[in-house]
Amino acid sequence: MTAGVDPVKLMKQEVGKAAADRVQSGTIVGLGTGSTTAYTIQFLGDRLKSGELKDIVGIPTSFQAEVLAKQYGIPLTTLDAVDHIDIAIDGADEVDPQKNLIKGGGAAHTREKIVDYLADQFIVVVDSSKIVDRLGSSFAVPVEVIPMAISPVMRAIEKLGGKPELRMGVKKAGPVITDQGNMVVDVKFDSIDDPANLEKSLNNIPGVLENGIFVGVTDLVLIGEVQDGKPVVKEM
Ligand code: 5RP
Repeated sequence: MTAGVDPVKLMKQEVGKAAADRVQSGTIVGLGTGSTTAYTIQFLGDRLKSGELKDIVGIPTSFQAEVLAKQYGIPLTTLDAVDHIDIAIDGADEVDPQKNLIKGGGAAHTREKIVDYLADQFIVVVDSSKIVDRLGSSFAVPVEVIPMAISPVMRAIEKLGGKPELRMGVKKAGPVITDQGNMVVDVKFDSIDDPANLEKSLNNIPGVLENGIFVGVTDLVLIGEVQDGKPVVKEM
C-alpha cells in the first residue's frame, strides 16, 4: 500500500472508481452524497473528460453532490425533466446481509431516498467497516424532522424505544440544518429486529419527513477492502 496513505481513503477511492466504471454512455445517473461517492463523481468527470464516457446527465442527491458534479463537469438535470433514472450510486453508513441500509450520515437521506428508489439499478459503495450483521449495531438512525415538530417527534420516538439526539453542527452553532431547511434527530435503538417495520413507524410520526432506513432497494453493494496491503473491491 502507498506509504502514509489512509487505508480507509484508499478503499473509498477504489470502490468509488469501480462504481463509476459501471456507468454507461447515454444514461441518467443518480449522484450520491458523502466521501465515497465524491470519488465516484470525480471519476465520472474523468471518464467524460477523456471521451470514454459520453452523454450522461446526473441527478444530485444533495447540495454537496451538485457542487462536485459542477466542479467535475457532469451535466445535471432534475426529476421534473426526466421520467426515469438508469443507475444511482450512493454510499451508506451500515449495510446488513440483506443489503438493507442505514443512510443519512451526511443528513442527505431524504433526497437520497427519492433518487435511489427511482433508479432502475441502485449500487451502494462502502468500505468494509460499514458491513454489519444487524442494522443499528453501531450507527444511529437519522430522522429528518420539520423544526416546529422537534419536541413531539422526540417524545414519540422515545415511545418507540429509541434514544433521540438532535444532531448539532460542527463549526456552526446550533443544530444541523438539511438542504430542505429541516433538522435531524439521530436515534439509537438497542436492537433493530424489523427494519421495514421501524422505517414505517418512524415515518408515521407527524412532523417526520423521512428516515435513513432503506429496505429492499439495493441491487448491488460494492465493498472496498484492503487485502495484503492493497485495496480491492468485492461484490455483495
Ligand atoms: C449521506 C449518506 C452517505 O452516503 C453516508 O453517510 C456514507 O458517507 P461516506 O461515504 O462519507 O462514508 O447517507 O447522507
